[in-house]
Amino acid sequence: MSIRTATLNGVATIEIARPEKKNALTLAMYRAMSDAIAAAGADPAVRALLITGQPGIFTSGNDIEDFVQRSADGLQSPAFDFMKALLGCDKPVIAAVTGAAIGIGTTMLLHCDFVYVSDEARLAMPFVSLGLVPEFASSLVVPQLMGNVRAAEKILLGDPFTGADAVDCGIANAVLPAGEVVLHARRIAERFNALPPGAVQESKRLLRRARAQVALETIAVEGEVFARRLRSPEAQEAFAAFFDKRKPDYTKF
Ligand code: COA
Repeated sequence: MSIRTATLNGVATIEIARPEKKNALTLAMYRAMSDAIAAAGADPAVRALLITGQPGIFTSGNDIEDFVQRSADGLQSPAFDFMKALLGCDKPVIAAVTGAAIGIGTTMLLHCDFVYVSDEARLAMPFVSLGLVPEFASSLVVPQLMGNVRAAEKILLGDPFTGADAVDCGIANAVLPAGEVVLHARRIAERFNALPPGAVQESKRLLRRARAQVALETIAVEGEVFARRLRSPEAQEAFAAFFDKRKPDYTKF
């Protein structure tokens, strides 16, 4: 199992721990994260959730091998269950971005309540360069957060960006030295031990209310296109190039 969970002092931690594959997320890992979010939601001793990775890597996104194998799963995929679990979580979710955050590594941050980024981290949403399209309602939330032109740089060109850019764009709260990011995020999470949990959860629901339904609808619309794109010759070329450790060649399309 490459997801470690632990509950300590009111904080349920979900730690992505598959460093040999740069914390790429498999179907089993999505399932484990969904289960952990559900368990934390149901446990009255848990006041906040902390999502973190390994030193130097938060997650390199969806496992590309799974993209190749599981292209037919579409909206039945455990990745969609994870998205719905995170969107539906009423308790505060704090992300400690310990390093590179690629694909869903960045888009999941759009649905966390607090995001702290290591000064060594790079974020990226390289969906287009993989022959794919944005997911996790990023096609909705990214332009809302930063405007169309900066969204185009990050989604159409897939330009990577720093933690400081993420703060500037409204994706993250602050950049911290790599050695301090998890501790800082934990301190923020532990502050919820001193706040009334009912008021926190009702307030989080209100903060998210206007966007909740449209985010779910967007995930479904994106998901249908994404599943189709996974089977496209462009994506097949991108995946083959990744495993051959070469640049993809899109001149033939
Ligand atoms: N899916 C599957 N395997 C992955 C992976 C992913 N998303 N990301 C990394 N890996 C694997 C590599 O294939 C490599 O495996 P190997 O040792 O068997 O060859 C191993 O993890 C180490 O990755 P490597 O690329 O050598 O590390 P790096 O430090 O040079 O680069 C990244 C790190 C994260 C920048 C780079 O791995 C990367 O770009 N990954 C893909 C990100 C991506 O496109 N994700 C999908 C977004 S939708």
